[in-house]
Amino acid sequence: MIFPMKGIEIVLCLIPRYYIETNSKGEDSMKALLICGSPRKEGNTEILLNKARERLVNRGVPSEVVLLAEHTVKPCIACEGCKKLMDGTCSIKDDDFHSIFEKMREADAIIVGSPVYFGCATSQTTGLLHRAGYVSSANGNFFKGKIGAPVVVARRAGQNFTYAQLQFFFTINDMIVPGSTYWNVAFGRKKGEVTDDKEGIETINHFADNVADLLQKLV
Ligand SMILES: Cc1cc2nc3c(=O)[nH]c(=O)nc-3n(C[C@H](O)[C@H](O)[C@H](O)COP(=O)(O)O)c2cc1C
Repeated sequence: MIFPMKGIEIVLCLIPRYYIETNSKGEDSMKALLICGSPRKEGNTEILLNKARERLVNRGVPSEVVLLAEHTVKPCIACEGCKKLMDGTCSIKDDDFHSIFEKMREADAIIVGSPVYFGCATSQTTGLLHRAGYVSSANGNFFKGKIGAPVVVARRAGQNFTYAQLQFFFTINDMIVPGSTYWNVAFGRKKGEVTDDKEGIETINHFADNVADLLQKLV
């Protein structure tokens, strides 16, 4: 009895403890998408999201950071075209919205990062979320049951408001929002300054661990 038990233990040890193998749709693995709403490449939001991505990847969650700075996403024009089309698309076709929206639909966790601009999320961030939310709700809600959460960075003030602002998207879209040991906010103005905010980085790392834990529970 002792030796077979040991054999089982050895086999179990070879499986990474936190590895998430399949999602509820039977796909290969639970995926996370991290959307960076800063127009500035290699800035503080991107740094924070990459910290979260690294953590998620180490926990076996394939994760991708999409930079809105590299894409053009026009704002919602309230044409109601998505409600007429009813085919899961937005009527605006001449920008990069649909390639990002497709990734949002495929992801099991959507983390949206934005710098604070005049106390609010950037127009790049809200432009994407307005269209994604409207197309989704016109088509039966693509985001239902997915994990969603904000990450926010600013020089001095406005993080809490912007964090709350982004929460409205996740909670109206029937999503599940994990927390951390603090809100997902950090300080920094110039590129890279956010790495000096040790508590902010710890909060994001812990948050990413919670996302991985939650994904595992949702498999
Ligand atoms: C147009 C603009 C508005 C800003 N408004 C605020 C603000 O309201 N509060 C604040 O603390 N920082 C504000 N900032 C500073 C940015 O939030 C800060 O530099 C942040 O780190 C930028 O993130 P990024 O490096 O990811 O682009 C503003 C910056 C810009 C360019």
